[in-house]
Order: sequence, then C-alpha cells, then structure tokens
Amino acid sequence: MAVQKRVPQKRKQHIAARANKLSPSGIRKFFDLLSSMEGVISLGVGEPDFPTPWHIREAAIESIEQGQTMYTSNSGTPELRKELARHLKTYHGVDYDPMSEILITVGVSEALDLAMRAMIDPGDEVIHPDPSFVAYSSSIILAEGVPAAIPTYEETNFELSATAIEKRITRKTRGILIGFPSNPTGAVMSKQKLTEIAELARKHNLTVFSDEIYGKLVYGVEHTCFASLPGMKEHTILLGGFSKAYAMTGWRIGFAAAPKEIITAMTKIHQYTMMCASTMGQVAALEALKGGQDCVTEMVEEYNRRRLVIVKGLCDIGLSCFEPKGAFYAFPSIKCTGMTSEEFAERLLAEEKVAVVPGSAFGACGEGYVRCCYATALSDIEEALKRMKRFVNKYRVK
Ligand SMILES: Cc1ncc(COP(=O)(O)O)c(C=O)c1O
Repeated sequence: MAVQKRVPQKRKQHIAARANKLSPSGIRKFFDLLSSMEGVISLGVGEPDFPTPWHIREAAIESIEQGQTMYTSNSGTPELRKELARHLKTYHGVDYDPMSEILITVGVSEALDLAMRAMIDPGDEVIHPDPSFVAYSSSIILAEGVPAAIPTYEETNFELSATAIEKRITRKTRGILIGFPSNPTGAVMSKQKLTEIAELARKHNLTVFSDEIYGKLVYGVEHTCFASLPGMKEHTILLGGFSKAYAMTGWRIGFAAAPKEIITAMTKIHQYTMMCASTMGQVAALEALKGGQDCVTEMVEEYNRRRLVIVKGLCDIGLSCFEPKGAFYAFPSIKCTGMTSEEFAERLLAEEKVAVVPGSAFGACGEGYVRCCYATALSDIEEALKRMKRFVNKYRVK
C-alpha cells in the first residue's frame, strides 16, 4: 500500500485587532520596491545624506573602548538629561527639571508611542493635521484612541487653523498632535497661529503633543517651541530628537519633556518595554549637544541651497510647489498630470528611476502631491529634476 505523504498544514495565525487595524507604511512599501532596482535617484527616505559629524562618532567610539556598554538609568543618563535641560532653556527659554521632567527614548518614534499610551484611554480622540507624518494616526490607533484628522491646504500654507480645530473638538477630544516644521509639507507654523492653538488647549483643557524633531531645520523663519508659549509647559508633551538635525537616524535617540506626572507615566511604560535607550547612542547625543553647533549650521546651509534649487526646478517643470520653510521636504502638486499620487510615484520610478513618496501616504489631503526629500546631493537633485521634466512633459494633461 502506498504511504501517503503528510502535507504540513500551515497554521492560521491569529493577529490582534489593533495590529490588523494598521495599514503598512506607504513609505516602506515603496522602498522595498526601490531596493531591487539600479540607477535610481532617491528623493524618498526622509533622512540626512550626511554621516553623523565626526566628533559625535568619536565620543561614542571612545565610550565603547572604555567599556561603557551597560544599561543606563531607565530615564537616560543624568548627564544627557541635564545637558538637554540646559539646551531647552538656552534655545527656547523653557525650564525642565532634568531628573523628573525629561525622558530619553529610542528616537521620537518611541517618545510618540509612549506619550499616546500614557495619555490616551480607549475611545479618546486626538486631533492631528492631514497630511502629516505616517506614524501619527498609527500611534493614536495603537493606544486605542481615535485619530481626528483636520485637513490642511496648500492655499493656506498647510497650517493647522485653530478655527478648524475648534469645530472638531468633542467631549472625547483628549489632545492635539502637531508636528511643525512638517513632514511631509515643510510648513512652519507662525508663533501667532500656534498661540491661537495654545488658547484652545487652555480653554478646552487639552494636551498638546508637539513633535519638534525638525525644529532646528528652518530657513529664514523662527521655530517656536510650543511649550515656550505662555502657560503651555503644563499642557505640552514636547517630543524631540537627534536623528534629523545631527544626522543621527541610526543612533535611535530622542526625548520627551513634560510635567512630572506625565514623564512618570511614560517612564513606567518605557521601563517595561525598552529599559533604556542605547548607551553609546546617549553618549553620542551628549556630545552632539555639548560640542559646537557649527555642524548643524553647515548642514542647514546646505539643505537651504538644495531647497532653493528643488523648489525652483519643480515650479519650472510646472509642478507648482508651496515654499517649504522647514525640514527637508518639498511637496509639489502633481495634479497637472491627472494621475493619483501613487500612480505618479510608481510610474516615475519605473520609467525614469526617480523615487518620490506619494502624498496619499500622509493622509487623504496629501492626494495630488508627492513628497520629495532634498537631503540628497545637489547633483542628484539636478538629475532628478531633468528626469521629472521629461516625465511630466510626456503626461501633462492640463
Ligand atoms: C515628523 C517626524 N517625527 C518623528 C520621526 C521619527 O524620528 P526618530 O528617528 O527620532 O524616531 C520622523 C522620522 O522621519 C519624522 O519625520
């Protein structure tokens, strides 16, 4: 009798509803595609093309050589927290107690997640701009909150209007998540407009989650730290980091600064999940703050040169482009091609080997736009513009 071969059954995995609710990042999906292609110019991933400045790397190497390889305190090294408190006081005039009001995290990504999980109960609503950074709505959903997206428009400089926010406030609104300078639009909110949001936070007793990771990357305008607005320290969870300004994406260091009760709650979650941020990363971050800030100024000057080239280049092609005043993204309209932003990005990659991110990855209001990151060599930006011109000329419908 023939022996029947046993075919192993694939186990059907049970995935929790909260994970099922998330859609995969529209950015990553795109870059998996890109990694298998050659000759691509990427205006895609939002990270500096510079390596971390040498004095910062050197400080971390030295600490490893000296054997500083153990855990740190859950909250982060006292030296880094003290230096950060000094930095926030010097640059923004806000006083934070380094021992109870600052937590060092694994990038702003972790700080955002902790802030949501510490502050949001199931069903609480959190207002955020649309378009905005891909992790905003996901972090709210993971905390079992409800994202309440407020449309922002090119015509009004992609600013979040206090009037629109107030209309969206309900009994369940718990907070407002803002991120200016903005990823993906490059918009910077003026102090005046932020003050109007601050008044709402006070009036409706809301927490403002303020992601200021791009705060140092501004061009000809000032960045206003939300916590520095009158009375706002008590209402604000300031999220900041080292990834963008110091070209330190791979080190994974960020921080949260907020009133003591909030930091205590966030630290409880952090200590059971991360324990602490990487020790060598914290040494590097300390050096970033203590060392001269010329490296940041130089990178900002270089981003500014590229910003001017890309914005002019895109406008010349006929892709009208709002002038970004911060971060390192241009967000041109691609409406003249009649394509959806996903179609545009896919075809541009396939036909001209230029990678951009579809605006729809950042929310419904990002449809009709693509995000072009200009943290890449000027020569690549110029070549990408030539290829985009060829592409747009071929498909322009209006
Ligand atoms: C607006 C914004 N916030 C947070 C992050 C996450 O940064 P980190 O590397 O500190 O986790 C990013 C990364 O792209 C971002 O663009």
